[in-house]
Amino acid sequence: MKPETASPYGHFDDATREYVITRPDTPLPWLNYLGQDEFFGLCTNTAGGYSFWKDAKLRRLTRYRYNNVPYDLGGRYFYVNDGGEVWNPGWKPVKAKGVKYECRHGLGYTRIVGERDGLEVETLFFVPPGENLEVWKVTVRNKSAQRKTPKLFSYQEFCFFEALNDMTNYQRTYSIGEVEVEGSAIYHKTEFRERRNHYTLFACTRPIAGFDTSRDAFVGIHEGLHEAKVPFAGQATNSVAFGWNPIGSHQINLDLAPGAEESFAFVLAYVEQGEAPKFDAPFVMNKSVGRAIVEKYSAPGAVDAALANLKAYWDALLGNFQVDCPNEHAQRMANTWNQYQCMATFNMSRSASMYETGIGRGMGFRDSNQDLLGFVHMIPSRARERILDIAATQLSDGTCYHQYQPLTKKGNADIGGDFYDDHLWLVLSTCAYIKESGDTSILQAPCAYADKAYENVVTDTLLDHLETSIAYTMKKRGPNGLPLIGHADWNDCLNLNCFSTEPNESFQTAGDVRDSKAESVMIAGLFLYAAREMAGLYEHLDRNTDAARMHGHYAEMLETVERVSWDGAWYTRAYAADGSVVGSHTNAEGKIFIESQGWCVLGGAGANNGRARQAMESVHQHLYTKNGVVLQQPAYSAYDLRLGEVTSYPPGVKENAGIFSHNNTWIHLAWCQLGEGDRALEYYLSICPSAKQDQIDTYRGEPYVYAQMIAGKDAPCFGEAKNNWLTGTAAWTFVVVSQGLLGIKPDYAGLRVAPCIPKDWPGFTVTRRFRGDTYAITVRNPDGVSKGVKALRLNGTEIDPTKPIPVVGDGSTHSVDVVLG
Ligand code: GLC
Ligand code: GLC
Repeated sequence: MKPETASPYGHFDDATREYVITRPDTPLPWLNYLGQDEFFGLCTNTAGGYSFWKDAKLRRLTRYRYNNVPYDLGGRYFYVNDGGEVWNPGWKPVKAKGVKYECRHGLGYTRIVGERDGLEVETLFFVPPGENLEVWKVTVRNKSAQRKTPKLFSYQEFCFFEALNDMTNYQRTYSIGEVEVEGSAIYHKTEFRERRNHYTLFACTRPIAGFDTSRDAFVGIHEGLHEAKVPFAGQATNSVAFGWNPIGSHQINLDLAPGAEESFAFVLAYVEQGEAPKFDAPFVMNKSVGRAIVEKYSAPGAVDAALANLKAYWDALLGNFQVDCPNEHAQRMANTWNQYQCMATFNMSRSASMYETGIGRGMGFRDSNQDLLGFVHMIPSRARERILDIAATQLSDGTCYHQYQPLTKKGNADIGGDFYDDHLWLVLSTCAYIKESGDTSILQAPCAYADKAYENVVTDTLLDHLETSIAYTMKKRGPNGLPLIGHADWNDCLNLNCFSTEPNESFQTAGDVRDSKAESVMIAGLFLYAAREMAGLYEHLDRNTDAARMHGHYAEMLETVERVSWDGAWYTRAYAADGSVVGSHTNAEGKIFIESQGWCVLGGAGANNGRARQAMESVHQHLYTKNGVVLQQPAYSAYDLRLGEVTSYPPGVKENAGIFSHNNTWIHLAWCQLGEGDRALEYYLSICPSAKQDQIDTYRGEPYVYAQMIAGKDAPCFGEAKNNWLTGTAAWTFVVVSQGLLGIKPDYAGLRVAPCIPKDWPGFTVTRRFRGDTYAITVRNPDGVSKGVKALRLNGTEIDPTKPIPVVGDGSTHSVDVVLG
């Protein structure tokens, strides 16, 4: 790759769609995700992390200690003992000197190669599509001129499935651990005798020279992982764990002539016993399902075929959208990493990353609805299922459970509801799904309310939920006619009803919202957007009375916003519970906020009176920096009871004037809406991770995925990224680049092409799969404009550029030629 896109720690390999890390001591652990369906693993650049099935809290298979010292310790380790010298191909935990290292994070796999003293050990971790297991492929090469007889020890620690209990309840867990070993297979079966009908299998596809299943035996009591006893002694102890801490370790003895190599694999599987009898004999598990898995992956070629499947899977998925455009960062992110991150946020919501422990938050109502926006073009059927799952956590009055557990799909009672933006995001995700797929039948899909008892059949539909959502905002309005805010709106930290003086309570649940008068301008803007979406949907369904009703709601809210929320040069943010204004030039701090500018403009406010442009120019003047747009200015310097958590953070971080990447994307879209392609790209690049490589020691985060937050200009660490991977930025940025800048917008009747690009772009091409057809789109910009389509041709025939391209539907490729001007 070109040197200008390299950092001291690595570089993009665009051809292989990998990020290549050439030094293990990255500024922070750099993470990848394994798995795309139901089995997932977190895997860092030093092979740290853990694995789980569906739910990182309730079905965690391997252990991980968050916020460890060092940060990232524990994971998929291999110890090499080469003539008494012990090292790891992934550098940790031994961190031996002189190990040549390379890590390639690819799509759904991580390959880490270490070499020392002429011995190369290549490890490759991935989850085959459709399987509930990880494959760890190992290739050992003797590159020296002498025969070598290295010993290799695998190591990972089993988690007792329920991750919180596993980390807290040692009076029980130290007494329940159980394993069985059969040949090269280690079975972790804690609680299997009682209520569990599943176990973890950790097996090697090759004969082993020994094993360990007791951590005390393998590591020691007073030793650390970097000085674990067994690999340094060079001999497994065949320990069988009884209680304490079960682990899985295999010893492999190799004998390699100069130039020789050997490949084999491990599988780490989640196995459900199903209907099969649980035991073959007292205390002896029926291992038939596990044995079949080992057999399958021991067959010659099976592992490589599974890897080829994975690659084909990602090629096909990403093939739904590919662009060739003049900006290398936009192109790389849109084609590969941004879409890849959208898969992760779709699967994880905000549950499991290096910053989310997998035991706190499950799936977020608002988060998952937004995550869909960047995922729906890849696998619409999964988006459909997700929409119905999310909607079913809504109560019949419109309230939504703010989070739910992915395994049970039940709302989380600890956090409850009353975030008065939640329900509106459901409108956005549903409309996006229908525009992508054309499938309006989802509206009639039976969809229960979480609090309602049904006689045998569910009679409510998804459309009922959408109507309930719109009605809920119309009903929950305050003294100025704006929507009430409840515990918070999109900004979880704007807690206008909290008044918390008690450090032990959560800002998100404290405070009584019932008779509250606090209002949100951001929700008003979001409502405008949602009501217009509903009107468009009803028009598409030829339900004109309903469409008119939605236009009526829209007009009423728009009139309110323009009457009560314009501050002179921007839109205000909220009204506090005492009726005072938030986000106004009359405030000493927090005079201008980003969210209400973004949403009011996207909702159509200020379109006809110049305010939209003025609000955006105010954003540019007061909030824009080279590292992105800060959330508000001036930052809050002291805790303000009336405003809650937003004032609790030090200035420049998180919601207190940090660069919260997610809300930046709404501004990007707003610039596109105003036709400002140069601004849109400049802003897009300001938070783009690929464009941060030349300041990576400041930025610190992975250069291939978006961060939730970049420290703002008020912070001493301006430009430092935090909370990477699980952020709504992923989905929204994909919307920005694909629909805003490149302007390829799915609509009910077909694809629309309405780009907004920098004036000096001569054009670009996009391949877009849409409803079974492929559109090969060529956009030319002979007049050097940002916006405006002068001519549009479908398969050579001139068509109306103001209308969507009609869906041909024959499964073939269609050429679309667009001329701007
Ligand atoms: C976090 C939450 C998201 C919220 C945002 C702003 O990213 O996951 O729901 O909107 O913070 O507070
Ligand atoms: C904190 C964070 C916010 C997040 C919320 C989730 O308030 O600042 O970003 O959304 O926690 O509960």
